[in-house]
Amino acid sequence: MSDSVIEIRNLSKVYRDFWGRAKVRALNSLSLDVKRGEVFGLLGPNGSGKTTTLKLLLGLLFPTEGQVRILGEPAHDVEKNERIGYLPEESYLYRFLNADETLDFYGKLFKMTKAERRERRDALIKRVGLEHARRRQLKEYSKGMTRRIGLAQALINDPELVLLDEPTSGLDPLGTADMKEMIRELKNEGKTVVMCSHLLADVQDVCDRIAILFRGELKVIGSVQELLEAKEETQLVTSSLDDATIREVESVLEKHGANLKSFSHPTSTLEELFLRTVKESEARPGRRFEPGERPSATTES
Ligand SMILES: Nc1ncnc2c1ncn2[C@@H]1O[C@H](COP(=O)(O)OP(=O)(O)OP(=O)(O)O)[C@@H](O)[C@H]1O
Ligand SMILES: [Mg+2]
Repeated sequence: MSDSVIEIRNLSKVYRDFWGRAKVRALNSLSLDVKRGEVFGLLGPNGSGKTTTLKLLLGLLFPTEGQVRILGEPAHDVEKNERIGYLPEESYLYRFLNADETLDFYGKLFKMTKAERRERRDALIKRVGLEHARRRQLKEYSKGMTRRIGLAQALINDPELVLLDEPTSGLDPLGTADMKEMIRELKNEGKTVVMCSHLLADVQDVCDRIAILFRGELKVIGSVQELLEAKEETQLVTSSLDDATIREVESVLEKHGANLKSFSHPTSTLEELFLRTVKESEARPGRRFEPGERPSATTES
């Protein structure tokens, strides 16, 4: 069995208007794989095609061109969705149900028995920290609480693959930390997670690999560690040195017996990489960065 949970090949999506005329090319010849057990981040400015990609994976939209295989099945196969959890960008939950009723409702859709539903519901409500509000109608929920119940709903069927569209949007710093912790737990349970986000620090914290889309095209893909490592620089951290030594240290470090505390490649932040990619992509449309290559820090527009 392939270790790719998602295989996307030359995937394009053109949205058409009522008359069938092409309106927007939301995705242009996207190819990428997501491996089993990884947390994969899909990044890009507003309108770059992230949500479109997730909807194509779920078979909620038909592609204009290209193929998708997900959990070994074509995207249009709806049965595979029983093994997938999806947290959409916008809440679609019934506003007049409370948290208990919501999870019970979705449990029924997955044909779980009453006992299974109850057990799963209680565990998930605890996991997302909504025990205090489980009997309140969702219309009274705050943004962060809505995000939490959305995640619980996405996990009701104990999915192998979880697709999260902006999981931390609207969450306060505590909620964000909880959400990141929950994503890490999913990974530890062996699940595969694909998430879209604009909050780059969060992505940097939880994702193993990322892809950056710009106007529907893949610009950068790779492991967070590799992409952010500045290979052309080496960073030395030493014990505190006096000014005179600092001047000399460039030529002869060890001669002064400085205590070398660490020896590593400094990493940039994902925010820097993201901004550079977007700038470079705007300046040079159609350019795609090769694996391991990063947009240069010197690109000025
Ligand atoms: N139903 C639709 N009909 C027409 N155009 C659409 C539709 N849905 C999305 N688009 C267009 O497709 C492009 C990609 O949209 P998409 O929602 O995939 O972006 P996104 O990367 O998720 O953006 P955001 O960060 O704002 O959520 C945009 O230009 C958008 O206007
Ligand atoms: Mg979106």
